[in-house]
Amino acid sequence: MIYLDNAATTFPKPTVSLRAINQCMTSYCGNPGRSGHDMSMKTGEEVYKTRKEIQELFQVEDASHILFTSNATDSLNLAIKGTLKSGDHVITTSMEHNSVLRPLKSLEKEGVQISIIYGNKEGKINPELIRSEIRENTKMIACTHASNVTGTILPIKAIGQIAKENKLIFLVDASQSAGCIPINVNEMNIDLLAMPGHKGLLGPLGTGVLYVNPKLKLKHLKEGGTGTNSRDVRQPYDYPEGYESGTVNAPGIIGLGRSVAFVKKIGVNKIREYEENLISILHKELSNQKNIIVYGPKNIQDKVGIFTFNIKGMECEQVAQELNDKYHIAVRAGFHCAGLAHKTIDTLDIGAVRMSVGPFNQPKEIKYVAQAIKEINKNNLR
Ligand code: ALA
Repeated sequence: MIYLDNAATTFPKPTVSLRAINQCMTSYCGNPGRSGHDMSMKTGEEVYKTRKEIQELFQVEDASHILFTSNATDSLNLAIKGTLKSGDHVITTSMEHNSVLRPLKSLEKEGVQISIIYGNKEGKINPELIRSEIRENTKMIACTHASNVTGTILPIKAIGQIAKENKLIFLVDASQSAGCIPINVNEMNIDLLAMPGHKGLLGPLGTGVLYVNPKLKLKHLKEGGTGTNSRDVRQPYDYPEGYESGTVNAPGIIGLGRSVAFVKKIGVNKIREYEENLISILHKELSNQKNIIVYGPKNIQDKVGIFTFNIKGMECEQVAQELNDKYHIAVRAGFHCAGLAHKTIDTLDIGAVRMSVGPFNQPKEIKYVAQAIKEINKNNLR
């Protein structure tokens, strides 16, 4: 199978990561932070190593402000619901995934006000439109770093500057960018950085991360055992344990740590360059084909490794099915849990086929994929 659904989850995972998970599960996995015996201690140390790897990757000052969650949705819910309250105003964009828009919509019922800035047909957001929406009660700007539908990269540095100048909390959804494009939380003025462990960071499913600026006071979304202050029935605000109640996914987190080390060893810039090259093959082969409509930025530098298209006269699901059944190519068709992004690019009624590359894809695979799509298009024209 040629796997081009890396925006949903990357495949394969680095062998070093799989080995570490196996070793953890078969030789030492105790419950981290709960007991003083060797197995619990060793698991705790290994979990901490992952925090350090992630701290370094995003130039975060304090590793204890890297929180482990189950996925990016979990991280975004904690960031959004842990920060906003009735009467607050938040600015977001039409390029968001439902994991940003749905928590915000749910808070709207409780009195949080939302402004949504629409992107242009390429999914690009003008930061000045965000600035012009700032009100007296604006508390947060929440936006994705890169769209999961078109791959469009948002101008995070410029938006972060606007947030800083206006003393607003800046939440960035790095689901499609962490591990794919460089992120520096200080340079970009990011207060909350949410991401999955299982996409560009190449970790296992069931892992997520939230960075929280130490200056923020975050409400808890869950309470329970932390392994600390057990005689006190109140939930502590200590980082990280106050926000990680319950037993964490230690084997997954340990695997994630090895994957992050793998990404760092290759270098995020190198990965970015490699994926840009893969996507440019698709653009070159398919952009000027009769009856193929390509969405998102034309300039490769303006997008991550996502190529989204439709074939006129065919439903997107039909194209994806044919790619799977006849050519053994895995893609994702439909609306990608991001209806507003599809509305922005005018595909709300029809959806689109999305192909997303990863660092393990080979140029020759991508050339084969382009030929397969040309063939499907040709057969459809007959
Ligand atoms: N959010 C993931 C995607 O875009 C699952 O496919």
